[in-house]
Amino acid sequence: MNFHEDASRSVAPITISNLLPSSINEDEAIMPIIEGLSSDHKRISSRYFYDAVGSQLFEEITLLPEYYLTRTEKNILKDVSPQIVRKLVDIDIIEIGSGDSSKISLLLESLPAERMEAIRYIPVDVNQAAIENAAKSLIKNFPGLKIHGVVGDFEKQLNRIPKGKKRLICFFGSTIGNLSREDSMKFMAELGRIMPSDGMLLLGVDMVKDIDVLENAYKDSKKITEKFNRNILNVINNLVGTDFVPDFFEHIAFYNEEHSRIEMHLRAMERMEISTPYLKGKIIIQKGETIHTENSYKFTHKHIDDLTRAGGMDVKNIFTDENKWFSLIQFCKRA
Ligand code: AVJ
Repeated sequence: MNFHEDASRSVAPITISNLLPSSINEDEAIMPIIEGLSSDHKRISSRYFYDAVGSQLFEEITLLPEYYLTRTEKNILKDVSPQIVRKLVDIDIIEIGSGDSSKISLLLESLPAERMEAIRYIPVDVNQAAIENAAKSLIKNFPGLKIHGVVGDFEKQLNRIPKGKKRLICFFGSTIGNLSREDSMKFMAELGRIMPSDGMLLLGVDMVKDIDVLENAYKDSKKITEKFNRNILNVINNLVGTDFVPDFFEHIAFYNEEHSRIEMHLRAMERMEISTPYLKGKIIIQKGETIHTENSYKFTHKHIDDLTRAGGMDVKNIFTDENKWFSLIQFCKRA
C-alpha cells in the first residue's frame, strides 16, 4: 500500500502523521463498495458516514435529547475521571476515533497541571481536520501536554501508532458497536496485543435496554439522524461517481432483538437505475428495496465477558449511570 508517511507535520508540541493512502485504491476501497451495492442485500459500510458533512451531523446527533449515549458517557467519565487519572504518569494516552476530543478533556481536567508534561496524547481518527482543531484547543487548555495525532483507519493501523512507554487506550462512544460480534472480538484481541502489561483500556459500550429508548435515539424528532443516514449516499456519490438522489430514500431505524442491535437502512421510494464509471451496466434498485447502512450493537454483561476474554484482559471496573444505560469499562491486562 502507498502511504505518504512523510506527511508528518509539526507545530510543536503538536505532531500529526497521516497514514491514509494518498489516493483511493480501486481494489481495496472501491470494489467492496460496488459489490455491496450490486448484491441482493444491498449494503454500504457505516465507515462512510463520516465525511465533513456527516461528521458535523453526528456532532449534532450527540446533542439531541433522544441520543442519550454521548451525554450519558460524558457524565460517567466526569464522575470517575479523578479515580482513573490517579495512576497516569509518564504515559501515552491513545484515543481511537477521537473526533472532537471532548471526552479526553474530561479526563485531563482531573489532572493537576504539573503532571501534564508527563503525558502524550495520541488521537487516532480518519478526519485530519478534526484532529488538528482538537489538538489546538487542547494545547491551549492543557499547557505542557504533548500531542501526536495519527490520521488513519483504526481497524487496520493500530500497530502503526507510535510506541512509547505505558499506555492508556481509550475507545469511547460505543464505536465498537459498529463491528459485528466476531469483528469486535478480533478487535479486542488486537487491542490486547498493543497493550503493555501495565497498560489500561477504557471502553465505552451502549447497553441493551428498553426498545423505545433505543429506537428513539435513532429516529429523532428533528430528523437529524435521517439526514445523517441519507448523507452516506452523497459520500458514495463523491467516492465512486454514483448518481444517487438521497431524497428518494426513506430513513429506517429499528431494533433487531435477535442480534441486540439497532439497524439503519435506506429504503428506495421508487425504482431507480444507478450508474457509476466502475460498472458497465446499471445498478437497479426496486421500489421498496433497502440499503443496509449501519449496525449499532448493544451490550449485555455476557457480551462484555466475551470481549474481556477475547482481549486477554481482566475487568477492573464497570462504571455506569443510574439507569445502567451505558457502561464505561476499565480493563487491565490479564494477570
Ligand atoms: C458513533 C457508532 C456510536 O451507533 O450510535 C448515531 C453512530 N448512527 N446515530 C451509534 C450513529 C446513528 C453511533 N456510533
